[in-house]
Amino acid sequence: MREDNSFDRRAYLKGAGAAGLFALTGTAGCVGGSGGGGSGGGGGGSGGSSNQVVPGTAPGFPPFEMREGGEIVGFDVDLLSAVVAETDYQLGDWQAFEFDSLIPALTNDKIDAIAAAMTINEERNGTIDFSSPYYNADQSVLVRGGGSFSPSELQALSGHPVGAQEGTTGESQVKKLVENGTLQQSNYNSYGNYVLAVEDLTNGNIDAVVLDKPVAETFVEQRPVEIAFTVETSERYGFGMRTDDDDLTQALNRGLEAVRESGKYEEIRNEWFGSNSG
Ligand code: ARG
Repeated sequence: MREDNSFDRRAYLKGAGAAGLFALTGTAGCVGGSGGGGSGGGGGGSGGSSNQVVPGTAPGFPPFEMREGGEIVGFDVDLLSAVVAETDYQLGDWQAFEFDSLIPALTNDKIDAIAAAMTINEERNGTIDFSSPYYNADQSVLVRGGGSFSPSELQALSGHPVGAQEGTTGESQVKKLVENGTLQQSNYNSYGNYVLAVEDLTNGNIDAVVLDKPVAETFVEQRPVEIAFTVETSERYGFGMRTDDDDLTQALNRGLEAVRESGKYEEIRNEWFGSNSG
């Protein structure tokens, strides 16, 4: 299937100027999934006898999930599709939410699985279940390229306006700085998604953005920004499922194993990150 798809990440990176990136951001509330609305089955939720898994994500987090034309594409999209293809489940249409609305959408049965580069952590694990980890990441601090502000540690953010996406682990890093008195509360700027935060960075409205390193690296390819330094947080991403959906969780874990063994995982990773990535 993948081979037939003319979508090419390099082309995406080249084509995605400021305007292109803005098109990737529209995630206010729940906006319907994959455009076209072709294939069968209604949207919402699990329940019933259907074996359909309705996936939810938060676009604007390249290359894990972003909009390309009317469609949501990215590493998570390809990976979850490949994983579900290894199971008896059928993948429904992608649903888009702001990142911090994903867990409520899941627990309210609007979606059945979260695939949104979501870090597995204790707090979230109290509400939802996670699959086995499928990607590792640290947090990077992004600044304007070639600018005068190039901090090398978190303490150096003191006195500077800093941005992060609401509900993310990047935001937790910034909030910690506020709590320990390093950063003034008024210098924390929260955004519905990271594309808007990076937009504010390049516009000079803020001086730094804290976000997952693989996404920071993607912005560096697309925008006049650079990574000032990276904080080793050793995060691991997992798919999120309802706690009573053990069947699905187990199926996805087996599916993940299968795509790793078949080489499909590596193929998808190489496609979105190049072959020299981890
Ligand atoms: N890994 C980070 C977290 O779990 C950021 C995820 C943001 N994902 C997104 N699709 N916007 O908090």
